[in-house]
Order: sequence, then structure tokens, then C-alpha cells
Amino acid sequence: MTAIRLDGEAPAARIRSEIAERVTRLRNDGVTVGLGTILVGGDGPSARYVAMKHADCAEVGIESIHEHLPGWVSEEELLSVVARFNADPKVHAFLVQLPLPAALDEQRVLFAVDPDKDVDGLHPVNLGRLVMGAGGAVPCTPAGILELLRAHEVPVEGKHVVVIGRGLTIGRPLALLLTSKRPGCNAAVTVVHTGVEDLDGLIRQGDVVVAAAGRAGLVSADMIKPGAAVIGAGTSWEGRRLLSDVDESVADVAGWMTPRIGGVGPMTRAMLLANAVQAAESAR
Ligand code: GUN
Repeated sequence: MTAIRLDGEAPAARIRSEIAERVTRLRNDGVTVGLGTILVGGDGPSARYVAMKHADCAEVGIESIHEHLPGWVSEEELLSVVARFNADPKVHAFLVQLPLPAALDEQRVLFAVDPDKDVDGLHPVNLGRLVMGAGGAVPCTPAGILELLRAHEVPVEGKHVVVIGRGLTIGRPLALLLTSKRPGCNAAVTVVHTGVEDLDGLIRQGDVVVAAAGRAGLVSADMIKPGAAVIGAGTSWEGRRLLSDVDESVADVAGWMTPRIGGVGPMTRAMLLANAVQAAESAR
């Protein structure tokens, strides 16, 4: 079997054009949507991700307001920028790019973001809303994965999804989302990590497998149920080359599979824009 390619570029472009229309409507009402980004340090991949977010903003007419702080910035200085963005009416939503340097307390920083401006959906209030099924911003990568599956009509409702990884930005919120009663969810979900017994056997049970462990080539063809949908969401870097958690050989067994580049990434970025415009609409 050669898997159907789960392209994220085309559905993300469709989402961006819908967002551009919403941004124009707001502009006609006198509101310029503003997305703030805070980058700490000069970490290569993070700087590139933030630059791509700015390019996406420019394409849909969202103004980006950027703060680049040195890697040795104090936690108090970082928190003062967060407080400034919280108070700035031009910043409708913003994010602090993760990971932060080890000396900074990531949780303290995430708690400090105004939940109404939390474009990442990572504030405890928004994660709590996700648990309760009470709306609020949904983390961008999980939301993007769902949109990607929906765009390609991959069955999810009532299916068994195996999520590999339990991190804050992907695995944990994705499992919450997939078990919710939202359309396109209602799945049976198993969350595993690289330390569980019989990891291969658990992964082999998945009708849909989402790899979000950040370990290159973790998922190989022998671990996949023939015909399953396989999503590579975890990434790692070898120099400037982006590596997927999913080995290319999986395409011979899977029914659907994301490409190494142009699968989940563009969808994540599109959902960030969607959360930003939603925050601006809600603020009115
Ligand atoms: N770094 C990797 N993923 C994310 C994310 O979803 N949000 C932020 N702020 N930083 C990230």
C-alpha cells in the first residue's frame, strides 16, 4: 500500500483565505487585528518558527507586534513584557515562543498571560475549558491535526487513536480534544510514551496514530496496522534538517500519512491565525 498523502498546505491556504475575510471585516469596523510574539534567546528553530508566523500574519492582514529578548533576560523582565502585551489594546492575542531558556520558569510565564489573549490555548484556564468542553482557545497543533484529518475525510469518530507523547503543546491537549464530544472527535484514545511496556503493540492497535514524541524515526512500518492514518507531529532537528517521528517506510503500510514537511506544520500555523482573529472578534 502507498499511503494517501495528508497534505496540509492546501487546507491551510483555504483556512488562511477565510481568516483574511474575517480580518477585512474587522478592519472595515475599525479594528486592526494584532498578534504579539515574544521570543527569548537566539535559538534557531524557534526564531524561524516565529518568522514564519509573522509572514502568515502579513498574508492575512494581521499586524504582528514582536518582542525579541536576549537569552539571559530575567524572569521579571519577561513577565513585564507579558504584562505590557496583556494591557495593550492593539495586541488582541499573543504567545511566548517555547521552549524558554532553562533558567526561566515556563509555567509561571504561561500563567501570567491573559487567558483572553492566549493564542496558544496553553493557559490553565483555557486547558481547563478544554477539559470541561466549555469553549476557549484550543492549542494550535492539536486543532490543526483535527482539521487536517477532517480535510482528508479520515474517519476519527468511534475509532481508536493512539497518541505517542504527552507534552503540553501536542499530546496532552490532543487527547482531551479527541475524547471530547465535538464533531470529528468522539474517539477512543490511548496516550503512550516511549517508556511504556509493549509500545509497539499499543501503537499497532491504532486506526489513527499521532506521533508527538520528538524522537526521529520512532514509528516504523512494522508498528502500524495496515491502512491506518499516521500523523507525524513531533519533530527534531539534525542541524537545519527537520526530522519526523515517523519513518518514511510507514508509507508502504499506512492508508494515510503526513509528508515530512507540509503536513501538520502549515495547519498549526493556520490555527494560530484562527485563534488570533477569534480573540479579536471576542474582544469587541
Ligand atoms: N514551541 C513549539 N510548539 C509551540 C507552541 O505550540 N506554542 C509556543 N508558544 N511555542 C511552541
